[in-house]
Amino acid sequence: MNPTRIADFIKPEAFLKQAVQATTVKAIKSLLSQFPIVDENAYAFEPSNPSTGWLEGNLHWIPLGKDRGNAGRIKLASRPEGPIAERTINGMEALIELMRRLELLQNSGAPVPQSPREAVARYFSLPPLDQIPKMQENPEANIKGQKPQKYARELARLLRVRVAYDKGQKEFAVFIEDDGIGQAPARMHETLLSLGSSDKGDKPYLIGLFGQGGSSAYAASEYSWCVSRRAMQLLDGRPDGVGWTVVKQVFPKNRRDPYYAYLAASPAGEVPTLPPEAGDAIGLQSGSRFAHLAYNFAGGGSAVTKGLYQTLNHILFNPLLPFDLDVGGTLATIYGNGYRLSNATVKAKTRLDKYFEQQPLDEHSV
Ligand SMILES: Nc1ncnc2c1ncn2[C@@H]1O[C@H](COP(=O)(O)OP(=O)(O)OP(=O)(O)O)[C@@H](O)[C@H]1O
Ligand SMILES: [Mg+2]
Repeated sequence: MNPTRIADFIKPEAFLKQAVQATTVKAIKSLLSQFPIVDENAYAFEPSNPSTGWLEGNLHWIPLGKDRGNAGRIKLASRPEGPIAERTINGMEALIELMRRLELLQNSGAPVPQSPREAVARYFSLPPLDQIPKMQENPEANIKGQKPQKYARELARLLRVRVAYDKGQKEFAVFIEDDGIGQAPARMHETLLSLGSSDKGDKPYLIGLFGQGGSSAYAASEYSWCVSRRAMQLLDGRPDGVGWTVVKQVFPKNRRDPYYAYLAASPAGEVPTLPPEAGDAIGLQSGSRFAHLAYNFAGGGSAVTKGLYQTLNHILFNPLLPFDLDVGGTLATIYGNGYRLSNATVKAKTRLDKYFEQQPLDEHSV
């Protein structure tokens, strides 16, 4: 199938609206039932000749990174919160990369930021977040005319982590959304769905290095889906549109070695592609949306999700950018524990250190 021919089976706008609401395994399976998909046991991906056995007009499951032996590497994460942090960091990088690439369009000689912090200072006028409470002590302090904390709070909306629980299916789902640079549909298989081929190694202002981190989230999920759209100005000649795909673990018949596969629309590995209007219909101008369904909180369940605010503040101690967290409808912004520790003027609710008023001594205190 030509990746864009997927639109022959569905109405793209209505489909994408429905697709981004798939929060359970049942919902994603029902979504998949609309398409002709070759059973995973009926097509075995051959890297040297992926067209062998390909049934034209059908979608096929292809191993992530085109590597049939990918499960070992994908299953490396040990704690359920790790993959969420990895995806969040990828989201921060996508926001930084968007700004860097837009800067280069204006001025192709603009010097490379030498560190992620320098990039965040240049593109978002943001100091390390643990300095914000101190800045607030000065009533004149502002970032782009706004109180620093308010400015940071608004910036956090560009990157959102959401955890939902479906009572009927007894399943957790984790969503990570960024309004960053996004990927062109034609490149999703080489980036978001690749393994070990990071495009960040030559960029001192990004963090990622191994082309590995984001994929750990697939191991913690029964199904995942992702949707991405590249910023219009940065398509590098590729057509605008929205890529959509689903990832699952495949257990081939008569084999003991599972692998992770995504739904591809061509033997070259391209994902199903929807026209730009479908992106507009879900409010996606540029960026990526990931959903990890039936997320395995390693037996911890709601105890882990309730503590996610603390855990993410701990793992991302002084993050480059703040982000929003929504756990079952409870909203918070994460600035990292560095911020929470740095000053008592921060609102008591989000403060980590407890602040005690001066206590008078009386005769009972000794
Ligand atoms: N939110 C995103 N927006 C745009 N591209 C992304 C996003 N997340 C991942 N990518 C692309 O997918 C690739 C793989 O991501 P992954 O996190 O697995 O590796 P990495 O960030 O390059 O390195 P590391 O393993 O150190 O995290 C990235 O190199 C990047 O090209
Ligand atoms: Mg990464």
